[in-house]
Amino acid sequence: MSRLWTKGFFLTTFLIQLLLLFDGVEGKGKRRKCPPSSWSEGKIVNTVLSNYTKMLPEAEDSVMVNIEIHVQDMSSLNELTSDFKIEILFTQLWHDPALAFAHLPSCKRNITMENKHLENVWTPNTCIINSKKTMIHQSPADNVMFILYENGTVWVNHRLSLKAPCLLDLRRFPFDVQNCELIFESYSHNSEEVELHWMKEPVTLMKQISLPDFDMVNFRTDKATLLYPNGYWDQLTVVFTFKRRYGFYIIQAYVPTYLTIIVSWVSFCMEPKALPARTTVGISSLLALTFQFGNILKNLPRVSYVKAMDVWMLGCISFVFGTMVELAFVCYISRCASNRDKTNRRESPRSRAAVYANGGCRTRTPHHLNGNVMTDSLMRNGVSVRESSVDPPQRDAYRLPNGPPPPLHFHMTTFDVAQPLTLEQVGGLPPPFRDPSPSPQPDCIARFHPESIDKLSIVCFPLAFTMFNLFYWWYFLSPTFDQDFLPVPHE
Ligand SMILES: *[C@@H]1O[C@H](CO)[C@@H](O)[C@H](O)[C@H]1NC(C)=O
Ligand SMILES: *[C@@H]1O[C@H](CO)[C@@H](O)[C@H](O)[C@H]1NC(C)=O
Ligand SMILES: *[C@@H]1O[C@H](CO)[C@@H](O)[C@H](O)[C@H]1NC(C)=O
Repeated sequence: MSRLWTKGFFLTTFLIQLLLLFDGVEGKGKRRKCPPSSWSEGKIVNTVLSNYTKMLPEAEDSVMVNIEIHVQDMSSLNELTSDFKIEILFTQLWHDPALAFAHLPSCKRNITMENKHLENVWTPNTCIINSKKTMIHQSPADNVMFILYENGTVWVNHRLSLKAPCLLDLRRFPFDVQNCELIFESYSHNSEEVELHWMKEPVTLMKQISLPDFDMVNFRTDKATLLYPNGYWDQLTVVFTFKRRYGFYIIQAYVPTYLTIIVSWVSFCMEPKALPARTTVGISSLLALTFQFGNILKNLPRVSYVKAMDVWMLGCISFVFGTMVELAFVCYISRCASNRDKTNRRESPRSRAAVYANGGCRTRTPHHLNGNVMTDSLMRNGVSVRESSVDPPQRDAYRLPNGPPPPLHFHMTTFDVAQPLTLEQVGGLPPPFRDPSPSPQPDCIARFHPESIDKLSIVCFPLAFTMFNLFYWWYFLSPTFDQDFLPVPHE
């Protein structure tokens, strides 16, 4: 082993000496060792900079600045602040003949300079004009690369962390596509002095970019010349297109609302009399939807236009609201029907004293009735009686001597205004007993049966909801299939 080492050592020293003899054209290492006659890098840099004034390079034409970016990463796209964060390696290349050192005795064709020299040379002052926040990474020193070529070409590269705006359009949320852009401009020089150009491959992705809720599907670069008060200025733009991953919203919004809507239809299967149960189902569905809706919208900016999610949620809430309206209708119908049944029963000969108009729901109450008969009649049949028809002395007879009034079902019929109550009568009456049973309706829609309305609803509501779904998904999903983004190439 050691013999091998010594052998190698002698061989290399021999080779180096041989090469040095032949004017030192090639070194052994990666870096070529310069012949002693040539100047050191430090001397070259000092010489070049000693005779250099930091001015726009002298040239007939404007200085061409070539720009290129390498995208390292993108970390977030925030809808509330409508911006995104991106890490880029930003390269600028321009030619400054005053920095050329080809005439000096140098064996190097390029020199990697220290960052501090960047302050001493002219720069096009290219900036990202739309950035909200820019930071040069310091890990641990500034991540800046500065290479000077012998012909005077300067290559500067910065590692930047940027926060730049997105053109937020949430009309199709959560099936939306967002565009975020970076705009490059020379801050100091107009296009007469500095021209900006994209390099042949302007944007390179160093890896596949995907955020938790977005995929970067595309990017495009653009060049424009803008007219400002002090001349034309070159502007380079790169627009990144992000497509939202809507899986989260399918799981968190669409599936739960489907379930809620289906649950709200359970009330159609309950009998019309189960009013509390049906109300509970309807109201809790409504509350669940409202809560889900609020939960999703709380992470979005308060835009005033209608989003796809709004259409969905408001549609679903209207469907649940529809079930409540149906419930109210069924309730009304069944109340009418029960009143009709009651009135039919009252038509029996025993309560012939009551007079009915048209045989419908309208009630005419007798004016002169024996109190006892009336009480019996009330207790047995639940007949509604106008209180004014009872004279005060008779009324006292219903009262127990000491204790609450008997459970009489007095009822004030508001429809029969033939003889309104006087103030005196009202004052002399015991506290009015309100009949919890529904009051008779003048004209009820007796044609419908409450059960048949439920049967109709259990077909109509799902049908209408299916129609709504077909329209909704067709309208909002078809454009996302139309736009086929080419796969983004990355290194
Ligand atoms: C500085 O530049 C001037 C003209 O550009 C030249 O005459 C002079 O020799 C230069 N000096 C050095 C030290 O290079
Ligand atoms: C600098 O010049 C050397 C030759 O002297 C070459 O091998 C190297 O690739 C150059 N570096 C750059 C960054 O162009
Ligand atoms: C200067 O040299 C570099 C590297 O050799 C080359 O890419 C560039 O085009 C040259 N620029 C000019 C203006 O000749």
